[in-house]
Amino acid sequence: MQKPTNRRKRMMRFIALASFALLTLKFSTVSAQSIWEGGSIENGQSLFNANCASCHKVTDEVLAAPGLAGIAERWGSSDEMLVKWIQNPQKAAESGDPYVKSLVDRYVANYGWMTAQAVSSDDVKDIMAYVANPPNVEVTANNNDACPTIDNAVEAEEEPNMLWFLMLLVMFTIIALSASGVKRSLSDLIAEKSGEELLPDSSYLDRFKSWAWNNLVFVSLIGLFFVAFGATKGYQALMEIGVYEGYSPEQPIKFIHSVHACENEVDCNYCHSSANDSKHAGIPSTNVCMNCHKAIKKGKINGEEEIAKIYAAIGFDPATSTYIDGEGNNGHSLPQDSYNGEPIKWNKVHNLPDHVYFSHQQHVVVGGIQCQNCHGDVATYSVGRIAPVEEINGLVDKFPGLIELSKPTLTMGWCIECHNKAEIDMADGGYYMEMHDRLKDNDRGNEELRRFLEDDKITVKEMGGWECSKCHY
Ligand code: HEC
Ligand code: HEC
Ligand code: HEC
Ligand code: HEC
Ligand code: HEC
Ligand code: HEC
Repeated sequence: MQKPTNRRKRMMRFIALASFALLTLKFSTVSAQSIWEGGSIENGQSLFNANCASCHKVTDEVLAAPGLAGIAERWGSSDEMLVKWIQNPQKAAESGDPYVKSLVDRYVANYGWMTAQAVSSDDVKDIMAYVANPPNVEVTANNNDACPTIDNAVEAEEEPNMLWFLMLLVMFTIIALSASGVKRSLSDLIAEKSGEELLPDSSYLDRFKSWAWNNLVFVSLIGLFFVAFGATKGYQALMEIGVYEGYSPEQPIKFIHSVHACENEVDCNYCHSSANDSKHAGIPSTNVCMNCHKAIKKGKINGEEEIAKIYAAIGFDPATSTYIDGEGNNGHSLPQDSYNGEPIKWNKVHNLPDHVYFSHQQHVVVGGIQCQNCHGDVATYSVGRIAPVEEINGLVDKFPGLIELSKPTLTMGWCIECHNKAEIDMADGGYYMEMHDRLKDNDRGNEELRRFLEDDKITVKEMGGWECSKCHY
């Protein structure tokens, strides 16, 4: 009776093994679910945007690093290793994990090391939930349509008109001269036929004079036209002195606002942060660019060429992702001239005369005026430009609350007009409300001011925004 026992034993062992295998299988699927499933998509989205979006897309498009679409299927190591990789890629690589090693071999030479991310394993779970279920992938994929770029090429409107005018003038003169020539030949011919004496030979000028004399009305009409034309042109030119609408100088780098502020939703304040606490909005330093461009080495539009200029200015070797020390490239194989160490010299676009005082903080923070009210829809621009006032007026639907103005941007009339229209927000009462009541109740107060105040609204003008000394030193 050995055989059956043996068989039973073997059977028992098989069942034990099978259930163990099943159990481990079950166990491993449970642990796989732990990070790839059940995370919060919403929380993941904000974590992703804050930490990962500057390098990764949720599609398979490459930004500064491979896109993360399909990462759940692609990731070839444990969950712990994924968290470890995200928290500290270099340390994860030291562990010798084969998948991580393959990542390093494949990407580090091109993209440099991924920077360590301060996220927890729960955060990673949420991020992976978002990566697996990104909302509106279509919108992200073709957001070039949602982010149009205004070609900053302006000007060139006056020139063709002028050119046509000059061409017409030349043609007219030629016709007039040849007509007088033909007329003369004809009269010569008639004179010859009838045996009369020929007209004396005369210069073109003499002939023109006599022709003009014979066509006095026509000539005076033309003359009048020239005088009127000259006068209007002159007047227009005078009115355009000090008006720089549409001005957009060349810049040392083809920086594109729409790529940053619209497509990648970088806030204006990220780069122009001092608009909130000082007179100037300021232009970001090269270090600010490097926060992102240490990793983003290539643009969709101009490839590596323009971004390379940032590296040249700050002394950064994109191949090794290291900064080059001051003098002499420190033995790096970079061509000497690719690092000039000179800060990027951005050309000023807006530039008020020195006798004018203007503060961003006063307008943006205290006055609550949107950037677009004075600069237009910068998120659609390439480089900075002075927005024409009609263009700004056209933005009221997109930016509710914009104050529509009529005088050319940056002129004194423009400032004054807005100060006459803009109301001061009295919602938080306080100082302005108190001043308002005091002036209203004061019989001896300025009569005119009292009349203004009766409508319970205070414009900037009523607060003294039309006083010369507020804007002029
Ligand atoms: C500074 C740029 C940068 C940031 C920010 C960044 N990564 Fe990465 N990531 C990379 C690079 C570059 C690689 C490719 C490997 C390498 O070169 O180090 C990579 C690789 C990865 C991989 C492996 C991709 C694969 O195909 O297996 C994952 C997963 C990953 N990153 C997740 C994240 C997550 C999640 C975040 C945000 C918490 C994040 N990364 C933030 C640059 C970045
Ligand atoms: C918050 C991150 C961030 C900052 C800061 C930043 N950039 Fe960018 N930049 C990007 C992203 C994202 C792209 C798009 C890359 C692409 O085309 O896929 C980009 C693209 C570019 C391009 C290439 C455009 C193209 O498609 O050819 C240039 C040039 C550029 N940036 C210059 C600058 C300069 C100069 C600064 C500093 C004043 C700066 N960037 C600051 C994120 C940033
Ligand atoms: C009330 C109108 C107004 C508003 C609102 C406004 N600006 Fe300006 N901005 C100006 C004027 C005027 C100048 C020219 C200042 C000068 O030449 O002294 C200027 C200049 C600038 C400059 C050039 C650098 C500098 O500081 O001179 C930048 C950048 C800028 N603005 C960005 C912004 C941003 C970003 C916002 C929104 C946070 C904003 N501005 C809001 C009127 C405005
Ligand atoms: C990634 C950084 C970045 C972001 C984000 C950004 N800008 Fe700029 N901005 C620059 C740089 C660099 C310049 C200088 C080159 C130029 O004139 O285009 C500039 C120039 C300007 C100028 C003209 C400055 C001058 O010389 O008069 C204005 C106005 C301006 N930005 C407004 C904005 C507004 C409004 C936003 C948000 C919608 C914004 N910027 C977002 C980097 C940025
Ligand atoms: C789009 C509207 C708008 C434009 C354009 C504008 N301002 Fe103002 N300005 C305001 C508002 C609103 C305030 C009031 C802020 C507050 O509550 O103190 C203000 C306040 C001021 C003050 C402080 C006045 C005071 O009584 O203390 C000065 C100075 C000033 N602006 C200068 C200028 C100059 C210079 C320009 C033109 C280059 C200009 N502003 C263009 C809306 C505007
Ligand atoms: C709200 C701000 C503001 C107030 C108030 C203001 N100005 Fe001006 N003023 C300006 C600006 C801005 C310019 C520069 C315009 C330009 O560059 O085209 C200017 C220019 C001038 C100029 C130079 C001529 C020119 O057009 O460039 C004179 C003169 C002048 N202002 C006189 C005055 C006098 C007088 C008062 C008081 C009645 C006054 N301003 C009140 C903002 C103001």
